[in-house]
Amino acid sequence: MHNNPDQFSSKIGFVLAAAGSAVGIGNLVGFPVAAAKNGGGAFLLLYIFFVVAICLPLILAELSLGRATGQSPLGAFKQVSKNSKIWAFAGALSLITPFMIAVFYSVLTVWLLGYFLQVLSGRLDELATPVYFGGFITSPWIFAYLAAVIGMVVLVLKGGVRDGIEKAARLLMPMLFIMLIGLAVFVLTLPNAAAGLKFYFTPQLDRITWSVVNGALSQAFFSLSLGMGILITYGSYLRKQDNLVQSAKMLACTDTGVALVAGLMTLPAIFAIYPSTNPGELSDSSVGLIFSFFPNIFMAMVPKFGYLAASFVAATFFLLAFVAAITSLVSIIEVPVAALKAESKQTRNKALTVVITGVLLGAVFSALSFGQVKWLSEFAFYSGMNKSLFDVLVDVFYDTILPFNGLLICLLVVWQWKRHNMAAEMASGGATGWLERYTHAAIAFWIPAILATVFVVTVINKFFS
Ligand code: TRP
Repeated sequence: MHNNPDQFSSKIGFVLAAAGSAVGIGNLVGFPVAAAKNGGGAFLLLYIFFVVAICLPLILAELSLGRATGQSPLGAFKQVSKNSKIWAFAGALSLITPFMIAVFYSVLTVWLLGYFLQVLSGRLDELATPVYFGGFITSPWIFAYLAAVIGMVVLVLKGGVRDGIEKAARLLMPMLFIMLIGLAVFVLTLPNAAAGLKFYFTPQLDRITWSVVNGALSQAFFSLSLGMGILITYGSYLRKQDNLVQSAKMLACTDTGVALVAGLMTLPAIFAIYPSTNPGELSDSSVGLIFSFFPNIFMAMVPKFGYLAASFVAATFFLLAFVAAITSLVSIIEVPVAALKAESKQTRNKALTVVITGVLLGAVFSALSFGQVKWLSEFAFYSGMNKSLFDVLVDVFYDTILPFNGLLICLLVVWQWKRHNMAAEMASGGATGWLERYTHAAIAFWIPAILATVFVVTVINKFFS
């Protein structure tokens, strides 16, 4: 069988790569903790509802747009809109967004690698001290870890689609599943683990407020790599004979499954080791939880299991989070690489060199925005606070622009590309049936309305409150 190195070699190859993109620290920590705080079982149902009502149709829209045009978002937007100026602007936005996300996400990935290596070298006790994180992220070592992370990304992306992205996913994703299940099984055997499960599964309808509904929607939307251009780009690497609908469903199930299983690891760990934890007091930020809270959990295991075993569990956890992060980083850097390669008609390696240099520079600047360099640390001022460059990138590109990009994709598909084209693309490789009608209704009616609302509310809350 002939295998094109610029395509995924099979549906499974695609699903693993796309799941590698989608699964990140949001799945491992953000989702379980949000569930424990915000209504347990009721939050889970809400989350699953949004995956089906909002995310699945958007996954299908992005994948079919990518496969039909064979292009990354910039090319796809231009082609479908027949080179309209407005849509070229939208296409440009869909390139700047992943680039900026890559910049701050690489800093986060660097911290995870750093923590993993620190635990390996026997410093778990130091990580658990309250001042450690602040010192760690401002130490010069960060740049050595950054070089290592960027080196790994280059190694994967140099290989291209089949021999780089897919190969890495085939190696790393099973590793991730095994570590996750191993940690969950271990944690579930701890006494009092049931307390965590109770917070996780018991539906508490009285906790469901509008802000919880919004939180569940954002969690689902961000987790599935939507609005980032990733699924358009990966869609362009799908073979015509692959069943798009099945691939999309498998992706949604894998990402949601990882989040659900992560709850079986994260929540019992918190509540078994700190039985007195009040979920309301847990931080909303995955970053705060992972770097400041989790080392304490691992240290609290020492009296019972010993320092070595606690360090082993901690190292496994940080390696798991690091693998989850680096596979996401790879996918998001691939978007500008693919676009630049197509636009400039250069080789993959040239495009990669340019993009990586940019990401590296941006990452150095954001890594220096935690007090070391004043103008980077006080990069902007809004909602009554000085914001670092890192914060601004997260607020602007991750929290605000992504839902807007999702909205643009709906508008493009419905008004420019037209229903029959998307229907034909979805059907290539397998019948669609009622799912076509459902997807069309979703992206024509309720998804744009909801994403437009989310965008406006976010802008008001974040920048004008
Ligand atoms: N799922 C990731 C998380 O939970 C978010 C994410 C999805 C992401 N795709 C990405 C982050 C691509 C960076 C790059 O954190």
